Amino acid sequence: MDEILDFAILCAREAGEIQRRYLSRNFEVIHKGEINLLTEVDLACEERIICLIERYFPNDDIVSEEKRANLKGGQGRWIVDPLDGTTNYAHRYPFFSTSIAYEVKGEVIVGVVYSPILDELFFAEKGKGAYMNGEKIRVSKIEKVSDSLLSTGFPYDLRTSKNNNIDHFIRCLLKAQAVRRDGSAALNLAYVACGRFEGHWELKLNPWDMAAGYLLVVEAGGTVTTMAGKEFTIYEDSILATNGLIHREMLSVLGGGDEGV
Ligand code: IPD
Ligand code: CA
Ligand code: CA
Repeated sequence: MDEILDFAILCAREAGEIQRRYLSRNFEVIHKGEINLLTEVDLACEERIICLIERYFPNDDIVSEEKRANLKGGQGRWIVDPLDGTTNYAHRYPFFSTSIAYEVKGEVIVGVVYSPILDELFFAEKGKGAYMNGEKIRVSKIEKVSDSLLSTGFPYDLRTSKNNNIDHFIRCLLKAQAVRRDGSAALNLAYVACGRFEGHWELKLNPWDMAAGYLLVVEAGGTVTTMAGKEFTIYEDSILATNGLIHREMLSVLGGGDEGV
């Protein structure tokens, strides 16, 4: 498994180098939707990562955000978000990341999230714990939502869909110490893993947004379910990742309950 982890770290660092390099230049931004952006940097990072995977793991499947899927029925599957936080990147707001996970038989066994601006590298291997820049990380010990710093995000269809997270956001805002919406789900999950946030919830994410961050939180001792409290897989369309201690109360707050634990 170390070979997989080392390779995922190499890919994430190469993407981070591309992100740092382009940041001070002009780059092309196109609209995938009204508020859903794509930059040439997303594509440059993806191209580099896919090229490396195809060279060193030619039999593996790849699921990557912009190219979507290259499924060959391989044993392993790389799940890649080459640039998570594209809107931030397009505005040069320095909160974005690369997320790379490796799945075997439906189980995520390696996850890497790299934040190139702070040079923070988060990684986890199933059963071996979670780390940031080589140091073991753990979720926080805060026990109440009212003492918690939470994060969330909103789906790109928030103007047209009623299922847009605004009701959950208001409920959590009124209950938590504070709520952040800072635009990279993968990095938000890594922040839960290292104890900066007590929890992150979000609707309508894709496997590439969640796979690595999910493993980081679990390996750091946290709890991950759907927002309805169901068992989580990266193919679910909602996530609630917490330090475990506030999980039950968060489910209640998200569900509209009043229960203070
Ligand atoms: C987005 C970010 C954002 C989340 C969106 C994602 P992208 O990914 O993770 O935080 O709120 O739902 O789609 O488009 O920047 O890769
Ligand atoms: Ca993403
Ligand atoms: Ca992306």
